[in-house]
Amino acid sequence: MSKSAELAALIRARAGDAAPHLGLILGSGLGHLAEEVQGVAIPYSDLPGFPQAGVSGHNPKLVIGDLEGVRVAVFGGRAHYYEHGNPAEMRLPLEILRDLGCGQLLLTNAAGSLRPDIGPGDLMALNDHIAFAGTNPLIGEPSDARFVPMTEAHDPEMRAGLAAAAAAEGVALPEGVYCWFSGPSFETPAEIRAARVLGADAVGMSTVPEVILARFLGLRVAAVSVVTNMGAGLSAENISHEHTKAMAPVGAAKLERVLRRYLRNL
Ligand code: HPA
Repeated sequence: MSKSAELAALIRARAGDAAPHLGLILGSGLGHLAEEVQGVAIPYSDLPGFPQAGVSGHNPKLVIGDLEGVRVAVFGGRAHYYEHGNPAEMRLPLEILRDLGCGQLLLTNAAGSLRPDIGPGDLMALNDHIAFAGTNPLIGEPSDARFVPMTEAHDPEMRAGLAAAAAAEGVALPEGVYCWFSGPSFETPAEIRAARVLGADAVGMSTVPEVILARFLGLRVAAVSVVTNMGAGLSAENISHEHTKAMAPVGAAKLERVLRRYLRNL
């Protein structure tokens, strides 16, 4: 049995057999959303081989249960490329989701905005991305399945559902392009200007590898950024991880309303 099938069996034994409809990965400062789910919590440390998310502001456990009457699997934190230098660190968790029979994945992250009309505390749904970190989680994958089409990687139907949910909640949810920088240092002002020229609307240190892996594994995927700051050099505020963690809850409250409505509408 594959490692992911083994872990999926372990998770089913603890949380029950029903397939989660939606997988949710929570970004920096958004981990508390895992507490909203009525269900079974499994610490990552109980899942052998599972990447330990070592970033403060994450909540390293998997919770499987009900949110708004929909069965969900919530990852309270993710591993980042900058923690290990391995862009495929999230492959096992996503394989587990697939093996649990989950069809949709919603990724969330904290991000810096490059757009004057999207500020700290605002949300942005990703309609595309740029893998500026210059690596790919499928490097070394031997099968021809590695040649994943990315033309509509950010699922149009899920995005339409998110847009409808946001509109119903009165929450602004502009769409934009997310540019993946490796981190962990923040970008320089020159890098932010470069990203703008390239067509990016937001920058962050995650999500893109998971979008690629999700498409590779046949999961439908969409992602929402919680903007915690303007990109470096675009405003006078300081950029720091402390600031990210302090600002994320502002956007997280809006994200939670959109997510709950999205689930109710499914
Ligand atoms: N850059 C990269 N990642 C981030 C930022 C940023 O400005 N803010 C929150 N995560």
